[in-house]
Amino acid sequence: MLVGSETADDAGVYRLSDDLAIVQTVDYFTPVVDDPYDFGSVAAANALSDVYAMGAEPFMALNIVGFPATELDLGILHDILRGGADKCVEVGVSVVGGHSIDDKEPKFGMAVTGRVHPDRMLTNAGGKAGDLLVLTKPLGIGILTTAIKRDKLSENEVTELVALMAAVNRDASKAALEVDAHAATDVTGFGLLGHLHELASSSGLAAELWAGNVPFASDRVRALVAEKMVPGGSKKNLEYVSQYAEFSSDLAAEDPILLADAQTSGGLLLAVPEESAQTLVARLEEFKTPAAAIVGRLGSGEPGTLQVRSAR
Ligand code: CO
Ligand code: CO
Repeated sequence: MLVGSETADDAGVYRLSDDLAIVQTVDYFTPVVDDPYDFGSVAAANALSDVYAMGAEPFMALNIVGFPATELDLGILHDILRGGADKCVEVGVSVVGGHSIDDKEPKFGMAVTGRVHPDRMLTNAGGKAGDLLVLTKPLGIGILTTAIKRDKLSENEVTELVALMAAVNRDASKAALEVDAHAATDVTGFGLLGHLHELASSSGLAAELWAGNVPFASDRVRALVAEKMVPGGSKKNLEYVSQYAEFSSDLAAEDPILLADAQTSGGLLLAVPEESAQTLVARLEEFKTPAAAIVGRLGSGEPGTLQVRSAR
């Protein structure tokens, strides 16, 4: 076993031979958008992401389904599965089966298997002091999906958000491998602060985060925070990470909660040597990843502690 549960990494990794390791992960959740097909593709992109976050290539997946078969039209389930299957086809992953149970609230996700060369995998524990931190999708997804539930987003805004969540992290992973990134994770339920805390702590380092460099999915995100469109998970994230994080007085009042916002199918957070950071950003821009932003730096200090300020 190369990666187990000790470092709270994105997936387990098991060595099969000198040049091949298998990567295994599972993820599922309740609907984040109304359209069943979109929900399926977002859930699949999210499940695949944990394999990409290991620098690995997914090749096989199993569906995990909870569905109220007697209360809801089975056509809805069919559309969810089709969304997931199409996402897998997009990246060359075979859906080989799955399991469903009768469940009051619909749930969908996947167990995904990938492969990686054992020397090439990207863990969250490989960061080095001085590495710059690069983020490949903008934040604000938790706030925006909460706004959907309260009917506060236009149709266009929903379409843009779905496209962002359904975007796979394959190219970001490829670019990270090209520049020999030291560490990677994906930004999901624990928010940027929570996942950065894990990456820093697993790497035995402290981190700085520059809030002014962090991209957001919509100009409206700050206003939505003022309207209290903040999911419970994001509040819990901020509460939890506050014991490790120091927030500078130059931050805007809503910055901490924005940086703790729970993401669904967020981007990769990569730690790269300073001299490779610009090459990585340029490569991400060529790949047209949703964001390509240098947002902070790893450094020596109490492992897992975070200094959050507005600029470098
Ligand atoms: Co993950
Ligand atoms: Co996960």
